[in-house]
Amino acid sequence: MKTVRVALLGAGTVGQAWVGLLSQHQDRLAALGVRLELARVLVRDAQRSRPAIPSHLLTTDPKGFLEGVEVLVEVAGGTGRVGDLVLEALSRGLPVITANKALLAERWGELRPYAEGGQLYYEASVMAGTPVLGALQSLWGNRTQELHGIVNGTCSYLIRRMEEGAGYQKALEEARQLGYLEADPRLDVGGIDAAHKICVLGRLTADPALEWSQVLQRTRGIEHLTPEALAEARRSGQAIRLVASLYPEGGSWVAAVRPVRLPLEHPLVLLGSGRNALMYRGEPIGTLYFAGAGAGGAVTASAVMDDLYRWLSGAPGHLPIPRAVPASGLEVERLEEA
Ligand code: NAP
Ligand code: HSE
Repeated sequence: MKTVRVALLGAGTVGQAWVGLLSQHQDRLAALGVRLELARVLVRDAQRSRPAIPSHLLTTDPKGFLEGVEVLVEVAGGTGRVGDLVLEALSRGLPVITANKALLAERWGELRPYAEGGQLYYEASVMAGTPVLGALQSLWGNRTQELHGIVNGTCSYLIRRMEEGAGYQKALEEARQLGYLEADPRLDVGGIDAAHKICVLGRLTADPALEWSQVLQRTRGIEHLTPEALAEARRSGQAIRLVASLYPEGGSWVAAVRPVRLPLEHPLVLLGSGRNALMYRGEPIGTLYFAGAGAGGAVTASAVMDDLYRWLSGAPGHLPIPRAVPASGLEVERLEEA
């Protein structure tokens, strides 16, 4: 039996759910000849109660945090100090499993060589446990035409609850209780989280050099959406959804996030009510749909676990596509901004 020592960075909603999940996987890991050992857990406040985690493993000191471990699991979030630690782990040759789409989107220039080298595993960063990254990475045999997705669970939940008649603040509080919100919920309702995710998706399927600043410029959120606007849209046979899109324009790839009006029978409306849904169109495969839970501790932890198995089985992390210039004259779906 081989002992694999893991450093865990972050023990909040996802981190605690993942530690809880670990205990259910010991048999499966043992069948692979692996005994997983949690070496230490880095947090900001070591006094906070975390029932799933033995308190002697908790530390707030990054010094020595990566010593003697074989893999880093990062479920802390943020792009500053956390990003520095992730890069330190990568530069030491450690594989890193992360759910942190903000980091992937915003510090891609530094992370990209490690991602291209197969050291970065990030299934949990987009649509949580619904495995879109692994699936999209299997589509290199196709020419990507466009992607459109409802990829923020908080906004999806808020919109569904407002359509059911709940007020914005009440619905937001419910989403918080469900563990859906980012540490700063303005990232969710402002469309930034969805922008992070379309950036990750775009680099995996279309352009490995897609720039975060370009995506951010074309990002709008749902802060001004009201139950009245949703009801008015519904009377016209439409639904308003926050959609992240990637499509060719003027010979290069662009990405945007904004509330759009979709026909009630649009697949993204039918599949994405209260959850996540993604539409991929490529040649020659045609149109594919993915739908499922896109937020919450347990479902996200399951994707972290999937990545751990991926690494243990010897598979590389998620590889960005080699540059793919969009062909001219491709038909793309035009969505009406709300
Ligand atoms: P969370 O509940 O806020 O937990 C964050 C954890 O990271 C906390 O334990 C916090 O420590 C620790 N932390 C934050 N900054 C740190 C720093 N600079 N140094 C040391 N520890 C630090 O967040 P979460 O919901 O679990 O999300 C974690 C990550 O997963 C984020 O990147 C998020 O975007 C991503 N994600 C979340 C979901 C979801 O549904 N929640 C889904 C997919 C991806 P303290 O506890 O001491 O404050
Ligand atoms: N805050 C994110 C969301 C978590 O609501 O989708 C999952 O990435």
